[in-house]
Amino acid sequence: MARGIFITFEGIEGCGKSTQVERLRSYLVESGREVVVTREPGGCLIGEKVRDILLNPENRGMTALTELLLYEASRAQHVADVIRPALDEGKTVISDRFYDASTAYQGHARGIGADKVEELNLFATAGLRPDLTIVLDLPASEGLRRLGRDLDRIESEALDFHEKVRKGYIEIARSDPARVKVVDSSGTIETTAAEIRRIVDRFLPPRRRG
Ligand code: TMP
Repeated sequence: MARGIFITFEGIEGCGKSTQVERLRSYLVESGREVVVTREPGGCLIGEKVRDILLNPENRGMTALTELLLYEASRAQHVADVIRPALDEGKTVISDRFYDASTAYQGHARGIGADKVEELNLFATAGLRPDLTIVLDLPASEGLRRLGRDLDRIESEALDFHEKVRKGYIEIARSDPARVKVVDSSGTIETTAAEIRRIVDRFLPPRRRG
């Protein structure tokens, strides 16, 4: 059986990923694909426990390196438990964040360095790479405004941090344009969803009929 397609969604806080993941899931299911939706950090039992540690505002004292290694630990388990098995069964996997988030947040914004983080990313995933990555882009101030709720440990970083994350994603897209597509998400949900469908349609092989 052919390996499934692996699509990831990325972007700053409040960029509308969860809504767009759900829109794309419905679209692909309607077109006859078996789709698994998952997320990082988390996506599996152990990964979700690591997520709680990472996002808990009480863990203010966490170093950047500890943070990076916990994201990678969650990822290693997530790939082994959920992503790899689903792809092996020929399913389409959509993950709400994956390793580009570590490159943007820990590599660029925390200052660990993109090269070092990318090395760890491939170590944690045993070389698994997304086939297509959608980066939803909008100004950091607009993303934070859209959140409109109590902020977790990472969300409550200063605006400057989130602008660095945004620049990090743009840099990732520049260095890997075949895989990473930037979509403006400052407009309506429908405009953004239509642009994502256009990109995915161009990318996915047509389904066999009958
Ligand atoms: P979420 O809000 O999209 O669920 O993501 C959780 C938070 O974790 C978000 O602030 C981004 C951050 N994050 C990283 O800093 N590094 C990573 O590798 C991942 C996957 C998420």
